[in-house]
Amino acid sequence: MGKILVTGGTGYIGSHTVVELLNHGYDVVIVDNLSNSKLEVLNRIEKITGKKPAFYQISVQNKEEMRQIFQKYDIDSVIHFAGLKSVKESVEKPELYRSNNIGSSRILLELMEEYGVNNLVFSSSATVYGVPKRVPLYETDPIGGCTNPYGQTKVDIELMLNEYAKTHPQANIAILRYFNPIGAHSSGLIGEDPQGIPNNLMPYITQVAVGKLPHLNVNGNDYKTVDGTGVRDYIHVVDLASGHLAALKKLEEKPGLVIYNLGTGKGTSVLELVHAFEKANHLVIPYVIAPRRPGDVDENYANCDKAWNEMHWKAKLNIEDACRDSWLWQSHNPHGYDED
Ligand code: NAD
Ligand code: UFG
Repeated sequence: MGKILVTGGTGYIGSHTVVELLNHGYDVVIVDNLSNSKLEVLNRIEKITGKKPAFYQISVQNKEEMRQIFQKYDIDSVIHFAGLKSVKESVEKPELYRSNNIGSSRILLELMEEYGVNNLVFSSSATVYGVPKRVPLYETDPIGGCTNPYGQTKVDIELMLNEYAKTHPQANIAILRYFNPIGAHSSGLIGEDPQGIPNNLMPYITQVAVGKLPHLNVNGNDYKTVDGTGVRDYIHVVDLASGHLAALKKLEEKPGLVIYNLGTGKGTSVLELVHAFEKANHLVIPYVIAPRRPGDVDENYANCDKAWNEMHWKAKLNIEDACRDSWLWQSHNPHGYDED
């Protein structure tokens, strides 16, 4: 069996997926430029799995350096996590997002073509659905209409992959549209380690819990939802990781291009998540009601029947598991991967 090339493999979702891959006997080569992750992740992966994957600090945008990886290793499949993901930063630096996210995906496809690598799993996002006309979201729902450059890069890459698949009948591509990943590995050794003040809800909650931030700002309580706060589909990152193994298995059937939502199918409001966190960890999270964040939608959750019917994958862990594991990670690593 050849290797699995994992771009962005030291990042949040990438590191959890690498652990699952190693635990299931896959040989992994990681490429990451460490623009949003730390080298220490590799030691943690080794602690969990007893194995240290090959690692190269390379930007996927550097075609010559990437070519050397394709030259050196017999690659079966690529899982492409590498990319920038901050909605806020993408509004300030749209060109950086276009060149990094779209540019690196194009280079990967060129090298896959050159070296006859046919299998690709791509990290897309629920953000491609734009403002949902209805929930739950199905894979057949229209994409586009994104309100930010980050989301638009995901739409553009999906379109590029569709074009590629049309002209390369031997290509097998799984586009995975993630909903909201939260949680951490149950060892507490790896988890989400955002730089600066977190943009996303769960790392904000855990930083309030650990005392780094005074209180949570609940962004809006007048949405058309169960309690007025925004509803999302929170999926445990370990379930998300196992979705990538299911996708690799699917690609062995040579399906051409396939698209799957990876979520739980269940919506949870901001306050429901806060209360679940408090209950799971016997803590109190102080919060204040703050203004809406521009661009946020009322409700966003997935229909995940397709992933179950075609890959036999579904999320097994629940919100309480994710709250417990996020807290284990944060409380054991109050400064993330940095030494204090
Ligand atoms: P992350 O930032 O933790 O991981 C991404 C990794 O890619 C980082 O380690 C970063 O250093 C690396 N990287 C960025 N540009 C690179 C480049 N040009 N070359 C090499 N490495 C590069 O993010 P994550 O949460 O693990 O997300 C992984 C993927 O999933 C991203 O593509 C993201 O857009 C997508 N996604 C994430 C979410 C989410 O909420 N976390 C939701 C939907 C989709
Ligand atoms: N929220 C707060 N306070 C915070 C942070 C978030 O109340 O400090 C609320 C938001 O308003 C929203 C919910 O918590 O209702 C979830 O917010 P996140 O930022 O955690 O997640 P989003 O659904 O807004 O965004 C995520 C990814 C994006 C991706 C999008 C796709 O972070 O990259 O899903 O739907 F584009």
